[in-house]
Amino acid sequence: MTGDTEDWVVDPESMFDLSGKTAIVTGAASGLGRAIALGYAARGATVVCADVDEAGASEVADATDGSASGEYVDVTDAGSLAALRDRVLDEHGSYEVLCNVPGMNVRKPVTELSETEWREVIELNLTGVFLAAKTLGVPLVERGGGSVINMASIRGIDGGPDQSAYSASKGGVIQLTKVLAAEWAPDVRVNALAPGYMKTPLVREAMADREWYEAMRDGHMLERFGEPEEVVGPAVYLAADASSFVTGSVLTVDGGWTAQ
Ligand SMILES: NC(=O)c1ccc[n+]([C@@H]2O[C@H](COP(=O)([O-])OP(=O)(O)OC[C@H]3O[C@@H](n4cnc5c(N)ncnc54)[C@H](O)[C@@H]3O)[C@@H](O)[C@H]2O)c1
Repeated sequence: MTGDTEDWVVDPESMFDLSGKTAIVTGAASGLGRAIALGYAARGATVVCADVDEAGASEVADATDGSASGEYVDVTDAGSLAALRDRVLDEHGSYEVLCNVPGMNVRKPVTELSETEWREVIELNLTGVFLAAKTLGVPLVERGGGSVINMASIRGIDGGPDQSAYSASKGGVIQLTKVLAAEWAPDVRVNALAPGYMKTPLVREAMADREWYEAMRDGHMLERFGEPEEVVGPAVYLAADASSFVTGSVLTVDGGWTAQ
């Protein structure tokens, strides 16, 4: 490596550029998935915005000035994921980035959480990532390259009351990420994002409870909730060549929550 960047393994001029890459973002109709889809498009990627809310995904695609498209997918249904994979391969030939975003929470103590609620959260948050790996991840493995980003949470690292299914699912996402990174190395990189509280529809209702909101806000060193677009830089980093030596990692985007 010299001062002349032409011989660098990663060109610093283009290390955050996503031009020429096709990215599938699931859960793209709302919140963090929406922000990531728009952010990837702004960095030059061709983005497939996929969601059970197909109309919402198409609106996000239309809000880009690129060649994004809106697609239906239910990440809890392997057949639906396989159909999405086949449509994207037909349309684009290949894809290089897969960002698995959908998630839900039911905030109740274990004694009040029903088995059905437990299963719903685990099914979407954890089994959804497993099924996406088995279907949408395979073309990356077969072509021998790409980046997978799984959406975890600070709750997959710490814990806290009323978060049993959510914390268990997100802890599972973190461990699944490490296993996939090991199984798919050295060609496909697999990493997780672990956001703190971000102002999206997922938490907006709970934010109306002032006492809860202030307690959660003060858990962040930065003394506030994050904005959805504040996850975009970390998501671009993990998708782009800037993170070419990063796999099996958990990148916190949490205003310092897990560091105190
Ligand atoms: N908002 C936060 O504070 C926060 C913090 C940490 C982690 N997260 C995680 O980030 C992810 C996104 O959360 P958000 O806040 O943007 O939520 P959100 O509710 O705004 O968006 C979730 C999206 O997932 C889609 N979706 C739901 N079920 C689906 C399915 N079966 N198949 C495909 N799409 C489906 C929804 O239609 C929606 O567009 C989740 O995994 C969540 O756990 C959020």
